[in-house]
Amino acid sequence: MEIKTVWAVYFSGTGTTQKVATTLAKSVAQSLSAGYEEYCFNLPAAREKELTFTPEDLVVLGVPVYAGRVPNLLLPYVRDSIHGGGALVVPVVLYGNRNFDDGLMELRNVARDNGFHPIAAGAFVGEHSFSTVLGAGRPDADDMALVQELAGKTADKVKTLTEAPAQAVEVEGCDPIRPYYTPRDRHGEPIKDFLKAKPVTDPDKCVKCGLCARLCPMGSIDPNDVSNVAGKCIKCCACVKKCPKGAKYFDHEGYLYHQHELEDQYAGRRAESKIFL
Ligand SMILES: Cc1cc2nc3c(=O)[nH]c(=O)nc-3n(C[C@H](O)[C@H](O)[C@H](O)COP(=O)(O)O)c2cc1C
Ligand code: SF4
Ligand code: SF4
Repeated sequence: MEIKTVWAVYFSGTGTTQKVATTLAKSVAQSLSAGYEEYCFNLPAAREKELTFTPEDLVVLGVPVYAGRVPNLLLPYVRDSIHGGGALVVPVVLYGNRNFDDGLMELRNVARDNGFHPIAAGAFVGEHSFSTVLGAGRPDADDMALVQELAGKTADKVKTLTEAPAQAVEVEGCDPIRPYYTPRDRHGEPIKDFLKAKPVTDPDKCVKCGLCARLCPMGSIDPNDVSNVAGKCIKCCACVKKCPKGAKYFDHEGYLYHQHELEDQYAGRRAESKIFL
């Protein structure tokens, strides 16, 4: 099959999905002597635009795993506004050293149902959004070597195809997709008000540069008073990890409990990145 353009189309709060999706797409483009384009749908304005691809496109479609699935507030955009039009797709998810559960399966299925042909896929480990010790520094050199392996094998597969495959690539996960993972305390009770947690701002550190307000994927941080998170917060941690002064943090009791539980349970082990062809 002749591919003219390889795309990296992604959402990435703290940059790990961006790193994997763009590296993968650039490498596939190079191997296929195709053009390279990027579309980041982090910002609300970017999610107003519909994307429609063609059989001459190959799209690396990347999202982080939130609660074991495609982030629920991004799902409407991916489902309703990214149209395959017969393009090949490589669904890619980043997960924070716990588990990707059904995130990759869900992304593959949504893409397939939107007119894409999923030919390869990957689940890679990224530093957990909530932490600097859980999956610290991931994706690292070993993960990125696997990204390159996926790129090489994807390009080889494309070169052997005479037409788009009828069957979507097999990936790990349950189908039908399971419910969202729920953060729980040690007694198995859901953590109270976890979804309501929002970051706070240290007024002694904040220099009012406004970067967090410009970056917030929900457009929820008031640019005139960045300590005011007026709208929804998906806890992507873009504002926390990208604030140049380290002025943003969560002090919500339930959020901190969950963060420490995750670190206690999963920081001591290395979850593996996986590729599917
Ligand atoms: C709200 C939320 C839920 C998350 N749920 C999971 C999860 O279920 N399993 C997991 O391993 N990591 C989970 N993570 C961690 C992210 O998937 C991981 O850090 C990813 O690398 C973030 O991608 P980004 O850097 O592109 O934002 C979650 C992160 C957030 C913000
Ligand atoms: S990015 Fe940090 S320093 Fe800049 S306005 Fe936001 S909280 Fe303040
Ligand atoms: S306010 Fe919430 S949604 Fe907005 S950047 Fe910060 S963590 Fe992400």
